[in-house]
Amino acid sequence: MTTSTLTPDTISWVCTTVRDRSAIELDVSKTYLIEARLAPVAKQNGFANIDEFIQAVKSKRKLGLESQLVEAMTTNETSFFRDLHPFEALRKTLFPEIKTRNAATKSLNIWSAACSSGQEIYSIAMHLREHFADLASWKVQLVGTDLSDDILARAKAAKFSQIEVNRGLPAPLLVKNFQRQGMQWELKPEVRNMATFTKLNLIERWPLLPQFDIVFLRNVLIYFAPETKKAILERVRKVMAPKAVLFLGAAETTMGLDAAFERVQSDNSVFYRLK
Ligand SMILES: C[S@@+](CC[C@H](N)C(=O)[O-])C[C@H]1O[C@@H](n2cnc3c(N)ncnc32)[C@H](O)[C@@H]1O
Repeated sequence: MTTSTLTPDTISWVCTTVRDRSAIELDVSKTYLIEARLAPVAKQNGFANIDEFIQAVKSKRKLGLESQLVEAMTTNETSFFRDLHPFEALRKTLFPEIKTRNAATKSLNIWSAACSSGQEIYSIAMHLREHFADLASWKVQLVGTDLSDDILARAKAAKFSQIEVNRGLPAPLLVKNFQRQGMQWELKPEVRNMATFTKLNLIERWPLLPQFDIVFLRNVLIYFAPETKKAILERVRKVMAPKAVLFLGAAETTMGLDAAFERVQSDNSVFYRLK
C-alpha cells in the first residue's frame, strides 16, 4: 500500500472533523501522527491509501467510517493502578469516609469517564474486593464510559495481554482475579460483573447517570481546548453527589478552569472536591 502525503487542506479537514466529533485538538504539527494512525484504518477498510479513505469518509459512502477515523485519533494509553496514588487515597481516606457517609443507603457509585480498555475501573473493583470486602452487601455501581465502541468492546471482554497485566498489576492480584486463557488473562466473572460499560462522548448528550461519589476523569481533558474542559467540568459537577471527589490525570487540574472545585492534597495524592 502506498502511504499518501496528505495535502494541508486534507490535514485541516481531518483536524476539524476530529475536533467536532471528539473535542480532541490536532493541528498540522501532528501530520505524521495523523498519517501513522490513519494508514492502517485505510488498509483494513480496503482502500489503497489514506486519501481514498478520506474521500470515502467525506462522501459518507460507508457507515461508520467517520467514527473509525475519529477513534483512530484517540489515545487509549492506560494501565492497571495507573499512578498508584489515587488508589492509595481510595483505600486510606475516601472509601472509609464513604462507608460512614453512605451507611444508611449502603450505596457507592464510581465513574471512570474515558475508561479506555477498562483497567482503571477494574483496578477499583479489585481494590474494593481486596480491602473492603464488607462492602460486598452494598449496591456498588462501577461505571466505565468512553467515546470509542472498539475500546468499550475490549473493556467489556476483560481480556488482557501479558504486557498489559505486567503494567501496574501486582502479581498476587493477577493470580487472585484472573484466569489464563491461551495468550491472554481473563478477569474472573465475579470481578468483571462489578463494572458496566456505556458509550458516552463527553461533548455530546450524556445518558442518564447516577449521582457519583467518585469520578475518575483522567488523561482525557489534556487533549481538549480550555473552553471544552470548562464545559465538561461544569457537567461533571452536576453528576457528583455532595462531598464527592474528582480525580484528574497527573498533568491535569481544575485550577483556572472551574472555581467550584478545591484541590485537596492527601498524602501523595491530589483530588478535587466541590467547595
Ligand atoms: C489516555 S485514555 C485514558 C484512560 C484512563 N482514564 C487512564 O487515565 O488510564 C483517553 C481515553 O479518552 C477517550 N476519549 C477521547 N475523547 C473523548 C470524548 N470526547 N468523550 C469520551 N471519551 C473520549 C479515548 O477514547 C481514550 O480511551
